[in-house]
Amino acid sequence: MQVTQLTKIFGRTKAVDNITFSVEKPQMIGIIGRSGAGKSTLLRIINRLTPATEGSVVIDGVDVLGLKGRSMRAWQRDCAMIFQQFNLVPRLNVVTNVMLGRLNGYSTMKSMFSVFGAEMIDDALAALDRLGIADQALQRAETLSGGQQQRVAIARALMQKPRMVLADEPIASLDPMSAEVVMKSLREIHERENLTVICNLHTLDTARQYCDRVIGMLHGRMVFDGLPSELSPETVRDIYGAEHELDESVTSTSIRSPAEAPGVLRPAAASAL
Ligand SMILES: Nc1ncnc2c1ncn2[C@@H]1O[C@H](COP(=O)(O)OP(=O)(O)OP(=O)(O)O)[C@@H](O)[C@H]1O
Ligand SMILES: [Mg+2]
Repeated sequence: MQVTQLTKIFGRTKAVDNITFSVEKPQMIGIIGRSGAGKSTLLRIINRLTPATEGSVVIDGVDVLGLKGRSMRAWQRDCAMIFQQFNLVPRLNVVTNVMLGRLNGYSTMKSMFSVFGAEMIDDALAALDRLGIADQALQRAETLSGGQQQRVAIARALMQKPRMVLADEPIASLDPMSAEVVMKSLREIHERENLTVICNLHTLDTARQYCDRVIGMLHGRMVFDGLPSELSPETVRDIYGAEHELDESVTSTSIRSPAEAPGVLRPAAASAL
């Protein structure tokens, strides 16, 4: 994938400002940056949910930003999107939600009333099993915990047989334990399916832990592109802004054992574990 000079202007705001990067082989990429840095807009442009003002996103020789109609919808299926708020159909059961991933592109009417083929049901159950939630297949989506719902959303994304997975703050609404399960699932999809996963993340330590590559954004611009190990305190200050006196705990949601964080008393967290 080659992203070239991508720009999105909303009124007076340059939400995405002249971003260029390429992905040569499947990678797990974390995009980090403060609120308003342009992370969601960047993913939404790639997925064609938001039109770009300028620039191109070329995949296998095709600028996906120029696709129209049916081929645009095919591309939207090819790059499965996972959202912070899961976007499941609350009243439908889990397995039906997952199968809707495959039906994406058919009319809703048709998909609601069609009888799902046995093969599709098998695939959906296999996807749920892979994410460890096959037992909940017949439960209504709204009765699941946030972490379980996000795993259903990932299973639905897998049903799309995507060429790429985009995840916009997939763990921002989750407790640390569920967050870990979801990040591990995304990592596993990257490794097993050999897919590029691009993941917007609020927290630096999550990007460090799960991603091969980190892109840092500030005011729409790319201010860092490199290995997690190359993120020095100075670069982190660049990404989160100089005026922002950085305390890494602010950008961290991970579960720290007392041994890793000496002197920090977290009785509530400790008893919850
Ligand atoms: N539809 C829109 N209309 C106008 N301005 C928008 C729109 N969407 C985003 N913006 C603006 O573009 C900038 C980037 O927003 P974006 O949502 O991409 O940031 P973000 O990095 O995802 O932030 P967060 O971490 O809070 O999700 C912000 O200044 C935002 O207010
Ligand atoms: Mg966002």
